[in-house]
Amino acid sequence: MQIIAPARVKRPLVDSYGRLIEDLRISITDRCNFRCQYCMPAEGLPWLPNDKVLTDDEIVRLARIFVRNGIKEIRLTGGEPTVRPSLPNIVRRLSELRSEGLESLSLTTNGVLLDKLAGKLADAGLTRINVSLDTLVREKFHRITRRDCLDRVLRGLETLEQYPTIRPIKVNVVAMKNFTEDEILDFARFARSKPYVVRFIEYMPLDADGNWKREQVLTGREIFTVMNAWKPLVPIETEPSSTSRRYRFVDGIGEVGFINPVSEPFCSTCNRVRLTADGQIRTCLFSIDEWDLAGPLRAGATDDQLGEIMHRAVAHKELKHKINEGAAFQRASRSMSQIGG
Ligand code: GTP
Ligand code: 5AD
Ligand code: SF4
Repeated sequence: MQIIAPARVKRPLVDSYGRLIEDLRISITDRCNFRCQYCMPAEGLPWLPNDKVLTDDEIVRLARIFVRNGIKEIRLTGGEPTVRPSLPNIVRRLSELRSEGLESLSLTTNGVLLDKLAGKLADAGLTRINVSLDTLVREKFHRITRRDCLDRVLRGLETLEQYPTIRPIKVNVVAMKNFTEDEILDFARFARSKPYVVRFIEYMPLDADGNWKREQVLTGREIFTVMNAWKPLVPIETEPSSTSRRYRFVDGIGEVGFINPVSEPFCSTCNRVRLTADGQIRTCLFSIDEWDLAGPLRAGATDDQLGEIMHRAVAHKELKHKINEGAAFQRASRSMSQIGG
């Protein structure tokens, strides 16, 4: 397979299956102000000690080296990235990497602090945002997140509308059996009445409690069928590396998407690597092994040496997850909030 990389990149990050890695997800904290049932226990998790967490300078340096090795898109994640006070500063500094080839800088957040932060993030150069919102019903929101904050998240989304440089605004809905079914059409109406792309995500075995059961997965196909019967959906062309299948309603009003990692894995076109808050490279959400960047970085490694570790990690990227392979499936070495999604 011929890999075409931009001229600025001397040596693109390509894995042993020929996948070109251009997307980096950086977790900037493992802490979170929510306790979603499908992610974290009520009492939280043992947080990383502060001195283990990469500093702003360290994040920016590693991101720059990644970009020089062909990364084009950076997404900041957590835990919940907005609980790190320096987030706007990190966004501002990363957005300077545009001159080195960075094309997109985005954030995945639970949205609860956006009413305060949206303006600062727009000023700092954020270009895209994904907000998690699993239900439009206050009581269900409280139950799933263990926080009574639905109105605040909706206010955060509305605040974003005032900042047109942050587009698209996507809403992520983790879909679960006996929870999401009765809101499928409400979410369809939400996607049609608001300028948000609504995406349903299949529940994955990444919860810290280890309670995931296949029977709890509400597939994208099941949701699609209900929505399409209500108002036909028309596919929209999607990038091969996209996590979601996109659709527009037949009358052109509203967009929805389906992220189906369990029922329709998309690993063969995966272009992602992840950097944890403590400076480890994870080449798959479900990785068991990690590649340490923090240690060498703090011991004085050069940019070339750190770039070499990035290449070595990518060369060992997993072919695919094994959620559907019975006993061959091993849980990831960290849970969702410690990886960043
Ligand atoms: P866009 O570029 O906006 O489409 O973002 P995204 O879908 O890559 O990012 P987001 O943070 O919104 O992730 C949405 C969901 O997709 C989360 O639950 C992620 O865990 C899941 N997801 C993202 N990347 C992967 C992946 O590589 N593998 C699997 N299995 N799931 C992923
Ligand atoms: N399965 C699927 N998605 C999950 N998320 C968190 N935990 C899980 C899980 N077990 C989602 C969040 C957020 C994104 C980063 O990952 O809701 O939208
Ligand atoms: Fe990529 Fe792993 Fe997700 Fe598959 S499960 S799409 S290989 S991160």
